[in-house]
Amino acid sequence: MTIYEFPHNFLWGAATASYQIEGAWDEDGKGESIWDRFSHTPGKIEDSSTGDVACDHYHRYEEDIALIRRIGLKAYRFSIGWARVLPQGRGKINLKGLDFYDRLVDSLCAANIEPFLTLYHWDLPQALQDEGGWENRDTCHAFADYTTVMVKRLGDRVKYWTTFNEPSVITYDGNLSGEHAPGIQDPRVAFQVAHHLMVAHGLGVQALRSTNPQVEAGIVLNLWMADPATNSPEDIAAAETAWNRSETLFLDPIFKGHYPHAAYELAGENMPAVKDGDMTLIAQKLDYVGINFYSRNLVSANGNIDIVPGSEYTEMGWEVCAPALRRMLNKINSDYDLPPIYITENGSAFKDEVSADGKVHDPRRLDYLKQHFIQTHLAMQDGVDVRGYMVWSLLDNFEWGHGYSKRFGLIRVDYDTQQRTIKDSGEWYAEVIRTNQIYE
Ligand code: FCB
Repeated sequence: MTIYEFPHNFLWGAATASYQIEGAWDEDGKGESIWDRFSHTPGKIEDSSTGDVACDHYHRYEEDIALIRRIGLKAYRFSIGWARVLPQGRGKINLKGLDFYDRLVDSLCAANIEPFLTLYHWDLPQALQDEGGWENRDTCHAFADYTTVMVKRLGDRVKYWTTFNEPSVITYDGNLSGEHAPGIQDPRVAFQVAHHLMVAHGLGVQALRSTNPQVEAGIVLNLWMADPATNSPEDIAAAETAWNRSETLFLDPIFKGHYPHAAYELAGENMPAVKDGDMTLIAQKLDYVGINFYSRNLVSANGNIDIVPGSEYTEMGWEVCAPALRRMLNKINSDYDLPPIYITENGSAFKDEVSADGKVHDPRRLDYLKQHFIQTHLAMQDGVDVRGYMVWSLLDNFEWGHGYSKRFGLIRVDYDTQQRTIKDSGEWYAEVIRTNQIYE
């Protein structure tokens, strides 16, 4: 038997995002967000659902915190619904919205759970989208002002602040393929958005630091390892290109201070104009970087291998390949001078059922997590500085364009009754946290 023991202060947690769990979409003065608008537009969401009610977390956060305590999580990663606090995106503050997050943070602190806050997990106020959204540079300044409002109010209790969750998904899914809100399909807009997200990140970091120098500032990137299908030089080169095109587009400006050559190749004439001073702003020193990891791409010179023989796939159609996490962590660790790393999302969607005993037996999710925890431990032994791990997700929730059809939770949510049931994976995770080790 091998035992993998984690450092005593390792930050075990779970993650959620405002639009995916809160519901109460138009309550207490909340403004409309681009995800409200998108999900209310027929044909956009697979099961025609919306986040109007979702997990009703807005009303049930106390119950959810009690569940977090039962699992023994040390940290809880959540995001702020910008339009709940600033219904028009800027200007007048909606105190009821701000109070909600204040109460949430108070309850977390009272339960000794570290709040890990994300400012932007995709739900831009619709009012700002109406003025051009992230294509419009003014939105970057609105984001900085919103950041200031939040850190003034919560900075005394929240240490970890993330500016953006997954700029690449905002860029590509929101503005190139249009599968996500705001549903734009325009390469020129997409690359302009990508750059403005970076500028807004920089302004956000400045706002955090100038308002409260005590807080830790970071960003969350989603990184899919790109593995070559064979050892042929052609496949190796193809994998390198695939990695460069997607992942370095954000890693390089943040951690090297310039866009990679691959970005210019990829964007071509759509490469956005970079103003004087932008790159210095974007490349400010961070206190941590969050990495979301789900799977990898297996790349050959002829394109991606869609189905890898012998591999397991999740309900998302993503290959289960935990060793790719270790390889990816080692790769970024050698390619960049990184601050401490938190795995800010990792998890899997499977078709869970409630058994006759009332429990949810989800051995595949449990095994997925176990394998990824082990690979993270191995990467740490290789010398990668990983400080914590947030499982995606605390609860089953609204999985964007897929609606409620994909369940990622450690806790099952019955959407008819809002009843919560901790799954076997959640019970197992509780034991991992309690003993701070894994064995196999
Ligand atoms: C990530 C998102 C998160 C969730 C998972 C499955 O890209 O950050 O909100 O949807 O994927």
